[in-house]
Amino acid sequence: MPYHVPVLLKESIDGLHIKPHGTYVDLTFGGGGHSLEILKKLETGKLFGFDQDSDAKRNIIDNQNFIFVNGNFKYFKNFLKYHKIEKVDGILADLGLSSHHIDEPKRGFSFRFDAKLDMRMNSEAKLTAFDVINTYQDEDLYRIFKEYGELKSVYTLVNSILSARKEREIETTFQLIEVIENSAPKHKEHRFYAQVFQAIRIEVNQEIDVLKKMLLQTKDILKPGGRLVVISYHSLEDRLVKNYMKSGNFEGKQEKDNFGNITRYFKLINKKIIIPTDEENKVNTRARSAKLRIAEKIRNEE
Ligand SMILES: C[S@@+](CC[C@H](N)C(=O)[O-])C[C@H]1O[C@@H](n2cnc3c(N)ncnc32)[C@H](O)[C@@H]1O
Repeated sequence: MPYHVPVLLKESIDGLHIKPHGTYVDLTFGGGGHSLEILKKLETGKLFGFDQDSDAKRNIIDNQNFIFVNGNFKYFKNFLKYHKIEKVDGILADLGLSSHHIDEPKRGFSFRFDAKLDMRMNSEAKLTAFDVINTYQDEDLYRIFKEYGELKSVYTLVNSILSARKEREIETTFQLIEVIENSAPKHKEHRFYAQVFQAIRIEVNQEIDVLKKMLLQTKDILKPGGRLVVISYHSLEDRLVKNYMKSGNFEGKQEKDNFGNITRYFKLINKKIIIPTDEENKVNTRARSAKLRIAEKIRNEE
């Protein structure tokens, strides 16, 4: 089983517009598929590969231009500063889980396997899926299932969890499925479980908060003309990326300077999102929800 099959590989690497002597950052190293392609295009340039999951260390690429950082990308600017890097030529983020997370039963990300409710990408982080399911208040459960799971009706789902956990703690993925199976729409059970698990995992890993923190650092650290390339798999993430690239904030509001001129940080390279081809979707079903956006840091003269 491969650790991960890279998604939109050619499109995203082309989007980085790699200079052989430049400095690049792959914020989501995973199986190293994207990093490997970046390294092929570097001569004296450097690539920093980040991953918060120590399992990704097994994929470290033996190349003198490559530096692996086992950390959360929400701190990437500080990590780079530690390596004496102030500005970079390109940043790639391929958000979310790797296939390894889903295929490794003990990580607890998949409803196909029975495992402890875990779902942490960083196995040293404090918050687990067990905590979310067994300790969160009803209004927080409503919020995460609606926002992160994109589920319309969550009332029965949340009530089933609340009443089951009064009897005993919900400890495993299969126990959770047993508790929620009555709330699943008939013949659409798998999609429903996938949405429930997605919501829990986004909460456990604070994926929306870390994405915002990471994006906000990109406009400071990219050189003029530097590229920001993001692949997202969820409409909430994609909206944040789109608004940020368009206006430098997450609401998509136009910012103005003291003279009333619109402040622009990025130029959009692709006006329409790039999605995988039918061929890619056929060979890699996990590519299906991928959306790629590419932006360039505005040059001073623009
Ligand atoms: C979709 S996979 C990337 C796969 C990679 N592009 C490849 O070709 O193999 C996302 C990876 O990013 C890591 N990741 C997700 N959020 C992160 C974060 N906030 N900080 C650091 N790594 C993160 C995950 O652990 C996972 O390995």
